[in-house]
Amino acid sequence: MAQQYRITLLPGDGIGPEIIPVAVDALTVVGNQFGFKLTFQEGLVGGAAIDATGNPLPEETLELCRNSDSVLLAAIGGYKWDNLPRHQRPETGLLGLRAGLGLFANLRPATILPQLIDASTLKREIVEGVDIMVVRELTGGVYFGQPKGVFETETGEKRGVNTMAYTDSEIDRIGKVAFETAQKRGGKLCSVDKANVLEVSQLWRDRITAMSSQYPDVELSHLYVDNAAMQLVRAPKQFDTIVTGNLFGDILSDAAAMLTGSIGMLPSASLGADGPGVYEPVHGSAPDIAGQDKANPLAQVLSAAMMLRYDLDQAQAADRIEKAVMTVLDRGYRTGDIMSEGMKLVGCQEMSDALMAALEE
Ligand code: IPM
Ligand code: MG
Repeated sequence: MAQQYRITLLPGDGIGPEIIPVAVDALTVVGNQFGFKLTFQEGLVGGAAIDATGNPLPEETLELCRNSDSVLLAAIGGYKWDNLPRHQRPETGLLGLRAGLGLFANLRPATILPQLIDASTLKREIVEGVDIMVVRELTGGVYFGQPKGVFETETGEKRGVNTMAYTDSEIDRIGKVAFETAQKRGGKLCSVDKANVLEVSQLWRDRITAMSSQYPDVELSHLYVDNAAMQLVRAPKQFDTIVTGNLFGDILSDAAAMLTGSIGMLPSASLGADGPGVYEPVHGSAPDIAGQDKANPLAQVLSAAMMLRYDLDQAQAADRIEKAVMTVLDRGYRTGDIMSEGMKLVGCQEMSDALMAALEE
């Protein structure tokens, strides 16, 4: 019998419901081509879940995810929910999903596509050939450390507190993912921290350094986060794989994404020790263009390709999707976010049609 996979879809908010179907169609086509079958079930998360249930991550959604082989998420958030109390914010749902599924490793590739070089705000010679993988720790650090909250002091003043904390084991497990990722790529790993100021970063640096003897084929370096931010825009080609904590990774992965000029093209994978991963585009829910057939579905489609590669072990099908994305770009199809002179401006639906045509060829 053909291999079967159960996929949970979390369209979320904004352009999510427009781009998820494009990825589903692409997955279905390659499933037929490579002889595996996918079944899809849909769950609520983010603002959509708040509207329906009052909770940005209903228990039912988490259960659905746990009982599937993999999860494809679009994006969450929008103006409508921005002023709700924190426990009812879409972002809280996303953090709950990461914590609930134990997704401690977030892989965010930033690869310059030759067709889109001119979309970068940096000079061609700086970005041509950039191929970076940011490995961001995703369930620890200052996002989750205790204590956290806004407390009243003895003088009646309010004091907001978050705690940046990492344990040995949290550092070791993300370090392992990062070293192994670097091994499969260019063999260079740069660990980013703030060890000149923060104790938690000193521990991070010590642990990562200690691990490096197990990976003699990986060249390890360290940068302070401020310098890393500068180097990323000054000379990004020096980087191969970057490993860093949750907050630094949040910031640096956005900067790395923008090197490519097109955040609308970047996929990501969030992985745990076992169980399903969550695959999502790096871009957000883009509420300003939602429902207007303007969204770029390609990052969602490339996220589905990452899912095939990492969770479902269907590398050939992943290659097929990635190749089809290159084909539509070569043919000049561009959504507004990646549009440049002389190219053919299309909406989400037309991009989808072009992609399916390329996949079926
Ligand atoms: C990201 C986002 C999230 C984060 C937000 C939406 C909670 O910025 O995935 O990078 O900060 O992790
Ligand atoms: Mg972010």
